[in-house]
Amino acid sequence: MEEYITANQDNNNNTPNTTSYQTIQSANNLAASTLPTQNSTNQSPLQAQDPEVYNLIKQEEQRQQHKLSMIASENFFSKAVREATGSVLSNKYSEGNTGKRYYEGNEFIDQIELLTIARAKEAFNLPDDWSANVQTLSGSTANLSVYLALLNIGDFIMGMYLPDGGHLSHGWSYTPKQPADPKKTVYYGGKNKVNISSKIFNTISYKVDPVTKQFDYDEVERIATLQKPKLLITGGTAYPRNIDYKRMKQIATKVGAYYLADVAHEAGLVAAGAVPSPVGIADVVTMTTHKTLRSGRSAIILAHKDIIKKINKAVLPGLLGGPFNHAIAGVAVGLKEVNTPQFKEYAQQVVKNAQHLANELITKYQFNVVSGGTDKHLVLIDLTNKNVPGRFFSKALDHAGIVSNYNTIPGDLKPPLNPSGLRIGTPWITTRGMKEEQITQIASWMDQVLKICQEDRYQGIKFKDFKIEIKQNIEIQRIAKEVKQLCLQFPLDI
Ligand SMILES: Cc1ncc(COP(=O)(O)O)c(C=O)c1O
Repeated sequence: MEEYITANQDNNNNTPNTTSYQTIQSANNLAASTLPTQNSTNQSPLQAQDPEVYNLIKQEEQRQQHKLSMIASENFFSKAVREATGSVLSNKYSEGNTGKRYYEGNEFIDQIELLTIARAKEAFNLPDDWSANVQTLSGSTANLSVYLALLNIGDFIMGMYLPDGGHLSHGWSYTPKQPADPKKTVYYGGKNKVNISSKIFNTISYKVDPVTKQFDYDEVERIATLQKPKLLITGGTAYPRNIDYKRMKQIATKVGAYYLADVAHEAGLVAAGAVPSPVGIADVVTMTTHKTLRSGRSAIILAHKDIIKKINKAVLPGLLGGPFNHAIAGVAVGLKEVNTPQFKEYAQQVVKNAQHLANELITKYQFNVVSGGTDKHLVLIDLTNKNVPGRFFSKALDHAGIVSNYNTIPGDLKPPLNPSGLRIGTPWITTRGMKEEQITQIASWMDQVLKICQEDRYQGIKFKDFKIEIKQNIEIQRIAKEVKQLCLQFPLDI
């Protein structure tokens, strides 16, 4: 969801495209003034050859170092993971599966892929008759690979309603300016088939319960029984609660559907046992590797060996050419970290931090946290009682050094570009070593930023003016300095 929103955001705001020449030039000037001067002998190859790109990367490093990255889908990878992903492995073509490649010279690539699969089996405690595909490039292509493997064009797929926290790749379409009827528990999509999943399949979305904002399994069962989808999907970008995988599998079995559990967000928490696992229950499990799993940018598909055989064919020749061997190696290195007691502690702390954040926001500052809390790594805030739109709050927080994203909330009547909520998560700051004490401070800063947004001078103001004025606010600048001080106490190993 956040990708869909941000992809459109700049266009709507008419802000310059970041690749424009002027932007790069001003970035260079800025970087040149903030970076230590180095003589040409100790310049890195990139710095010497392409200072424009080098300087932009340096600035991004500083941004990551000095701000609290609290976008729930992001994390900070170890130097070892980044070394693998930046290695010569990206030079090699290896279409096919291990031992059966279409090109020569894959003896080491094969070993890396087999190692990654073995580590995935260990991390997710796979049953003996399950296996993994580690070749898809991202969560969206992982889902598409599953559809290609198991479905025919035009089949019905049924996933969670996007504005309630589902994902684009689970079949999203809409009609502009025609929000779904809030009284209906099912959504049949609209005219704009914005994702490939809705272009080639028929889609139905189930919603969360309007009161609890949690899954209503009886209602999911009723809709599935009526519609008889070929694939039932769970998982999403902004659903803070655990899912009853057994119940969903029962529903899928009853209606003759496959059940896909997409754990893109919580994969690391699943591996660490911090939340329940769908492995061995769902027919297929997909995940991204770059969120809570902290293993570089890629995806993994887990399923019974018979299904994995079909998925391997859907990946190649169905969807991809050569796999990203550097990304697969990054996943192998990340999974070695995942298979340690330290990672288990990390994942537990991610959840404790998110739960502490939710509690602080609710009890001390009267925020309306969707579903009353969280079981995972993210907190979804309904801002309607605060009378500050999500987009304004997330922009103000960013200037204060706390990076999150505006988000729809269940039943939101506002559009995705100007929704009523904010999503915030703890995976990255927990990687920095932050715990409850720091979360207490962060919650206080969030409340301070919110109160600034509520000041009279920002009421009725247009967003394009707000984002300039809030940046100049002295109190916001004071918080940004305090945030930076905290970040420096928990430095990133860049
Ligand atoms: C539930 C879910 N599935 C799939 C994806 C897509 O992953 P990617 O961005 O790697 O394509 C996401 C990304 O946020 C997600 O949250």
